[in-house]
Amino acid sequence: MLKLFYVSISGNTRAFVQRLTRYADKAHAADAHCPRIEAVEFTPSFDARFLDQPFFAMVPTYLDGGDGINSGYREVMTLDFRDELDEADPENLLGIIGSGNRNFNAQFGLTAKHYARRFNSPVIGLYELRGNDEEADRIYTSMCNYQADFDRRGVKRALVK
Ligand SMILES: Cc1cc2nc3c(=O)[nH]c(=O)nc-3n(C[C@H](O)[C@H](O)[C@H](O)COP(=O)(O)O)c2cc1C
Repeated sequence: MLKLFYVSISGNTRAFVQRLTRYADKAHAADAHCPRIEAVEFTPSFDARFLDQPFFAMVPTYLDGGDGINSGYREVMTLDFRDELDEADPENLLGIIGSGNRNFNAQFGLTAKHYARRFNSPVIGLYELRGNDEEADRIYTSMCNYQADFDRRGVKRALVK
């Protein structure tokens, strides 16, 4: 089972998680070696014990203005989610999946990249808005690979760049 912790302010991430979970269910039905996904959305009453085992985090980007190069670094809306990750053991955070809107140019998906540095974990996928089947396929494959790598080595991959 792949564990996924996510936050969704306006529902796009939630919709993509549903797509991704359905995709994993189908893959599992076709081949029992393919893991299913247990996804938990951040809410104020979220049970933090979910983060006591290896998991992936998925975060949309909400930044307060700027261009992502010289300015535009102040995260808004997702800070309570980040606080939960701050409290968790970073060794359990196997990878980060980010999203946003490409209209934001250099700021596209930037929160995931900020988290990568903060938690020393790789960004293992980016998708746009509510995502599509191609993005679900790519991100599911990436999650499977990172989970299998962790299961083999017993230690997560750190950020490499
Ligand atoms: C106030 C605001 C700021 C945003 N800033 C960014 C940004 O800096 N970069 C980006 O890629 N997307 C940005 N977005 C787009 C969101 O990340 C995108 O709509 C995402 O799918 C929202 O996910 P959610 O519906 O799960 O909350 C912003 C959206 C809003 C409303």
